[in-house]
Amino acid sequence: MTRALVTGGAGFIGSHLVDALVARGHDVAVIDHLSRGHTDNLAGALETGVELHKADVTDVNSMVAAFQAFRPAVVYHLAAQIDVRRSVQDPSTDAHVNVGGTAAVLEAAREVGAPRVILASTAGVYGDPEVLPTPEHAPVAPLSPYGASKAAAETYMQLFERLHGLSTLSLRMANVYGPRQDPGGESGVVAIFAGAAREGRQAVIYGDGTQTRDYVHVSDVVAAFVAAGESAVTGALNVSTGSETSVMELARLLGLEPEQRPGRAGEISRSCLDPSRAEQALGWRAQVPLADALADVAG
Ligand SMILES: NC(=O)c1ccc[n+]([C@@H]2O[C@H](COP(=O)([O-])OP(=O)(O)OC[C@H]3O[C@@H](n4cnc5c(N)ncnc54)[C@H](O)[C@@H]3O)[C@@H](O)[C@H]2O)c1
Repeated sequence: MTRALVTGGAGFIGSHLVDALVARGHDVAVIDHLSRGHTDNLAGALETGVELHKADVTDVNSMVAAFQAFRPAVVYHLAAQIDVRRSVQDPSTDAHVNVGGTAAVLEAAREVGAPRVILASTAGVYGDPEVLPTPEHAPVAPLSPYGASKAAAETYMQLFERLHGLSTLSLRMANVYGPRQDPGGESGVVAIFAGAAREGRQAVIYGDGTQTRDYVHVSDVVAAFVAAGESAVTGALNVSTGSETSVMELARLLGLEPEQRPGRAGEISRSCLDPSRAEQALGWRAQVPLADALADVAG
């Protein structure tokens, strides 16, 4: 049993992580300023005594105060600006939250002596990679401010390890899907298509639908975070299935015949991450088949 702090714990992935940590008997606290997250996502967890600190991760004084009050042994840093398109329109806000917020969380961890920090990073750090499935040693070459801010956040993690002896690990997640996902999020396509399938609405595909993604279920992602928190592994690991699914195939799996509209500039054409290092390092691999999980989401 340990003391685990989850930033962004009222959001989609964070709230599932909180539930999983509580189920494993850990003492859990959440930091979230509830801009996108909801206390509804934490209803069960709050009843079990999970503490919610309503605070902004970019405010270092609030971070130090929350860390001092809770004294975490492991910090899972998930709070972020997650909208890729918004990052293109407003890169300074994206950098403020994702880079400044990570620096503030690391500063609080150092100040209060929280020894281990796990960052929610993204496939977006690789941009449009040459090698698929992409391994962790592929070049970091983001194509959006969001990818750049996460790459910078990873660099801060490594720096705090070198300068201050923190133990840090960045989990580069592929496209996460599952219950509680907001259709406006980074990989909201599953939530959008599932909503269209449920409500009998027309789905829209931008481009020819051949663009691919690696869809990983939130329960698998949470298992990777839990394993990461219980390990001493450092650096960066992909959290993915290693399988590519085209957007057209995704629509068809949900029984949709989508309308096609012109493609959007800057969209990554193919994305699929090699998860073998996570399997070696954490003994983790994704378990949930996409087709089975989609049946539940669309149900
Ligand atoms: N969803 C995906 O497919 C995916 C893929 C790769 C990486 N990620 C990363 O995983 C993490 C969680 O993503 P999610 O999909 O659950 O998103 P989400 O928006 O549901 O959760 C993010 C949470 O952070 C909170 N937050 C945002 N800014 C904050 C701030 N300044 N201070 C305090 N709280 C703040 C929001 O209120 C929200 O509850 C993010 O770091 C995201 O970049 C997500």
